[in-house]
Amino acid sequence: MNVRAIAARALVQVLGEGRSLAAVLPPALSRTESRNRGLLQELCHGVCRWLPQLQALLDRLLARPLASTEHAVRALLLVGLYQVWHLRVPEHAAVSETVAAARQLRKPWAAGLANAVLRAALRRREELAAALKADPEADTAHPSWLLERLRRDWPDDWPAIVAANNARPPFALRVNARFLDREAYRRHLAEAGHNAAPAPDAAGALILEAPVEVALLPGFNEGWVSVQDAAAQLAAPLLQVRPGLRVLDACAAPGGKTGHVLECEPGVALTALDRDAGRLDQVRANLRRLKLDARLIAGDAERPADWWDGVPFDRILVDAPCSATGVIRRHPDIKLLRRDSDIPALAERQRAILAALWPLLRPGGRLLYATCSVLRQENDEVIAALLAARADARAQPIAAGWGRALAHGRQILPGDADRDGFYYAAVTKHPVASRGS
Ligand SMILES: C[S@@+](CC[C@H](N)C(=O)[O-])C[C@H]1O[C@@H](n2cnc3c(N)ncnc32)[C@H](O)[C@@H]1O
Repeated sequence: MNVRAIAARALVQVLGEGRSLAAVLPPALSRTESRNRGLLQELCHGVCRWLPQLQALLDRLLARPLASTEHAVRALLLVGLYQVWHLRVPEHAAVSETVAAARQLRKPWAAGLANAVLRAALRRREELAAALKADPEADTAHPSWLLERLRRDWPDDWPAIVAANNARPPFALRVNARFLDREAYRRHLAEAGHNAAPAPDAAGALILEAPVEVALLPGFNEGWVSVQDAAAQLAAPLLQVRPGLRVLDACAAPGGKTGHVLECEPGVALTALDRDAGRLDQVRANLRRLKLDARLIAGDAERPADWWDGVPFDRILVDAPCSATGVIRRHPDIKLLRRDSDIPALAERQRAILAALWPLLRPGGRLLYATCSVLRQENDEVIAALLAARADARAQPIAAGWGRALAHGRQILPGDADRDGFYYAAVTKHPVASRGS
C-alpha cells in the first residue's frame, strides 16, 4: 500500500480515536517496506506536529466541510497538505501520490478533491500563509489552552518553547559507564559511520548527527548504550546514590532512569515500582540488556500499604506521570490528546504520590521529584504543597549550570541546549517532629 494511505490509516486512530502515536506507529511501521519507514514516521509526526495549522489550512481550502464520518479522507488531505506546506517533496509527487492513496483507501470520489485541495494550496500559498499568520493557534500550531498556559507560565520564553516544540528532536544516547566511556563509544560510532558529539552537563550523553535504527548502534544488544535525552540523564546524579543505599524508583517504567541509576552505582538496593505491570516488563527487558538487577514491583505509589515492606528508603525518585509538555517535540500527538482539564487532575495525582511516599523516606534521606512538564502547576506548585504539608521537608537548591532556578526546583525548557523540557526538585527529610508523617 502507498505510504500516504498507510499514514492516513494510522492517523485516523490518533485523530479520530484518541490513540497515541506510540501505540499506533510501531504496527504500521512493521507492515511498511523498510525504505518507506522514515517517510511514514515523518508524515505521521509531521501531521500531529502541525495539526492546528494544517486543519486551519484545510478549512480554508474546502468549499464545504467534509462529513464528520470521513476520517480517512480528512487524514489523507492533512497528509497531503503537510507534504506541500512543510516538506520538500516535489509538487507533482506529493499530489499524484496523495490522489493514488485516496483510491487505495477505497475513496475514489476523494481523488479529485485531493487533487483540487493540494493544487489550490500551492497556487494560493502567499494569501493562505498571511491568513494563518493572523490566527495564533494556526501560526504556532498549538491549541489555545496550551498556548495560554505557556504564555502565563513563561511570559518571556513562550515563543522559544513553541518553536522548540515544533522542531525535530535530536537523537540522544547515554553511554553505559560500566562498560566504556563516552569517547570510546564515540570512536565505535565513527567506525560504524555515525558522527556524534558530546552533550554538556551529562557525562555519558552523546548526540547523533542523524538518527540510526537502535539495533544498528554498536553494542546496543550488549548494553553499551541506551537512547535517552540529555535532560533525562541529569536525574541519576541528582539522586546522589552510594553503595548500600536503599533506593525507590517509584514511577519506573520503561526504566530509563532505573538503568542509569544502577549504571552509576550498581551497589544500591533498588526497588523499581510501576502501576502498569505491562510497562514494568519493559523495565525488566531494559535491565536484562544492561546486565543490571533491581527488585521490580507492580504497585501503586499512592498505596504503599499494598507493597511496602516497612523498611525506609534512603533515596526516592518520583519521575511522576505528567502532561509531558516538555517533550512535545518527541511526542507531538500530546498537543492533540491532552486537554486543559488534565493538568489540575495530574497535579492532584502528583501531590497524592508525594504525600503517600514521604513517610517511606528515612530521616536524612533525599527525594528527587522529576517531570517532563513545563507547567508550574505540575512542578514548583506540587513541591510547594509538599513543603507546606510536611514540617520535616526541606527543598535543596540544585546548583547547576543548566536550566533555570525556580523557587524550589530547576526547570529546563525544551530546546535549552537542545534538551527536552524537564523539571527537577530535590527535597530532604529532616529529623524533626513532623506534622502527619
Ligand atoms: C514519566 S513515566 C516514568 C519514566 C521512567 N522513570 C523512565 O525514566 O523511563 C511515569 C510512569 O509512572 C507510572 N505511574 C503512574 N501513576 C503511578 C502510580 N500511582 N504508581 C506507580 N506508578 C505510576 C506510569 O505507568 C509511567 O510508567
